[in-house]
Amino acid sequence: MGQVLSLSLLSQLYPIHASHFTVNDIPDLTGRVVLVTGGSAGIGKETVAALLAHNATVYLAARSPAKAHAAIRELKERTGREAVFLELDLADLASVKRAAEEFLEKEKELHVLFNNAGVMFPPHNQLTKDGFDLQWGTNVVGHYALTKGLLPALLAAAQSSPDGKARVVTTSSMAAYLNTIHWDTFRARPGRDKLTRYALYEQSKHANVVFARELGRRYGHQGIVSMSVNPGNIVSELQRHMNPVLRWIAHRFIYPTPYGALNQLWAGTSPETADFNGKFIIPWTRAGECRRETNDPEIGRRLWAQLEEDTHV
Ligand SMILES: *[C@@H]1O[C@H](CO)[C@@H](O)[C@H](O)[C@H]1NC(C)=O
Repeated sequence: MGQVLSLSLLSQLYPIHASHFTVNDIPDLTGRVVLVTGGSAGIGKETVAALLAHNATVYLAARSPAKAHAAIRELKERTGREAVFLELDLADLASVKRAAEEFLEKEKELHVLFNNAGVMFPPHNQLTKDGFDLQWGTNVVGHYALTKGLLPALLAAAQSSPDGKARVVTTSSMAAYLNTIHWDTFRARPGRDKLTRYALYEQSKHANVVFARELGRRYGHQGIVSMSVNPGNIVSELQRHMNPVLRWIAHRFIYPTPYGALNQLWAGTSPETADFNGKFIIPWTRAGECRRETNDPEIGRRLWAQLEEDTHV
């Protein structure tokens, strides 16, 4: 890893400046419909909490009904408002399709989609229902299919919104810097075995940024504002890639979970990010540069074509 990139990563691990934006700065979201994948736990749950507290109608999309309902109860106690459960297994394209259809039956408009869910470092042999590598299939393929399925509601929201916009916020990671896309590794064969489960994670988080930018290229003119986010609290996964000095420093700055929701809340709700189509958000609450490959329109086109072919969505 080059010196300059190391410095940039270090400044994201240990931002010198506090965020200028806090949860209290989220505007009143009355009348706004929002969907958060992976909303039962972690930064997804904190994201749902903050959105509820600011009057949004929030769909909490998750795989386990039991965990989702427990989270909804807990958040009702915290905020006085109730999220709506949407059953969604991103590792199963039939489930993704059902979830999008169920949403479209209930709502005409979706103002903000948080593609927040993700799996990290599962056992190497695990695949999705449709035979994709579990991390690729969940983090990238599932969110692609969900976003495509929900596009009618996103475009309708953009048309009726005062600012003409609807937002899609895709949660990436600092891991996006550590790898690129390896085109023969998406399924068990032919090339997947050459990547470790760590590398497969990094690839999926890199592809989240490529996906977000390509979505913005394709639908920006129709009012879609697509961003990707390094949420900033992912020190542990990076440690093994760092030299000992950086690792020693990084070790001291693992941020508590609520802070991890801040970047995506800023991307999804702040007037400041209304024109941030295509941008990558870094700690805290500022636009930054990811690896140059994520900006390459040729790679974006190729990923999109591959996802279209693999999902028929
Ligand atoms: C939520 O809506 C209520 C009632 O309209 C309003 O008084 C309150 O300020 C809103 N809350 C936030 C955090 O915007």
